[in-house]
Amino acid sequence: MSIKICGIGSFNPERIITNDDFAGIMETSDEWIYSRTGISSRGYASGVPTWKMGVFAAKEAIKNAGVDPSEIGLIIASTITSDFFTPSVACLVAGELGLFCPAFDIGAACSGFVYALDCAERYLRTDNKLKYALVISAEMLSRYTNFNDRSSAIIFGDGAGAVVIERTEGVYGSYLGSDGAGGKHLFGKLPFPAYPFYEYEVTGMEDYPGPENVIIQNGKEVYKFAVKAMPAAIEKAVAAAGLKIGGIDFFIPHQANIRIIETAAKTMGIPLEKFIVNIKTRANTSSASIPLALCDAVREGKIKRNDIICLCGFGAGLTYGAMVLEY
Ligand code: UT7
Repeated sequence: MSIKICGIGSFNPERIITNDDFAGIMETSDEWIYSRTGISSRGYASGVPTWKMGVFAAKEAIKNAGVDPSEIGLIIASTITSDFFTPSVACLVAGELGLFCPAFDIGAACSGFVYALDCAERYLRTDNKLKYALVISAEMLSRYTNFNDRSSAIIFGDGAGAVVIERTEGVYGSYLGSDGAGGKHLFGKLPFPAYPFYEYEVTGMEDYPGPENVIIQNGKEVYKFAVKAMPAAIEKAVAAAGLKIGGIDFFIPHQANIRIIETAAKTMGIPLEKFIVNIKTRANTSSASIPLALCDAVREGKIKRNDIICLCGFGAGLTYGAMVLEY
């Protein structure tokens, strides 16, 4: 069994923040940001909550799939930037769509879209009554950006992507992994009040003191992880699909840094043209970056029906994962 993406949707914020805008509030430059990351500009949600971005993307994906919303039997949303710790983004989307199916969020950071799709595939495989599943990634990184940290602030953007999937026969392979010991290199502390009954201990996170409620990143460590995790996940997912790297038409990597993508491509001996890259204008939107890149590539006519695509995510957790399927 495999899954088929029968509809895609996205939400890209109207408010665009350029590298020059950053140069106006911190010591940086368009030249530094673009040459180190491949990013020129990013969208900031500005008033549109995370769940609402998810609703826009979901409605577009359902319309694009040409299915009646009532036929959706499962909603999984991936986010690390929810508006509420409860209810979930998935439930809020279900409410807007008037659906009563299972709806829940998963947190796997920038790997979240691949994790959520993998999860939905398992539902479709084991529940014959389920016809369509909706998978959404909605992220508002601007809400958790530390504007006092110029090395991390400049990489993030906001947006949401969604897909409607159904069961099909065809090529499929998936691989998910994690490296929890590396979690200290990319994390965000919640502003918990003092615990009356529990002690909690952080291991390693104290090495990177920083304010609460913002993303704290050791860019160099995450970079080192990413350039190894990407090829490892891709190779395992491609093998699980019974294919060779050459059998993949397009790779859609998490859009974290163009240099990570270039290094991974070189390591695997894959021409860079086979990688979908939209980081220049979308920046790093965590789990939303893969579905946003998919949407852009389909709309540009680059990815076409029956192309074999390989999605690959990596990020906080640390987590990583890849999936091979036919578009
Ligand atoms: O999506 C989640 C996964 N995240 C990632 O994959 C991120 C992976 N890491 C990266 O993409 C890169 O590490 C960054 C883009 C975040 C940072 O680039 P870097 O080349 O690792 O820079 P750095 O933080 O090591 O800083 C190098 C130099 C430092 O100056 P000195 O100490 O060499 O004098 C920084 O102070 O560049 C300086 N610097 C900046 N200069 C101008 C750092 N950020 C900036 C900036 N503008 N925005």
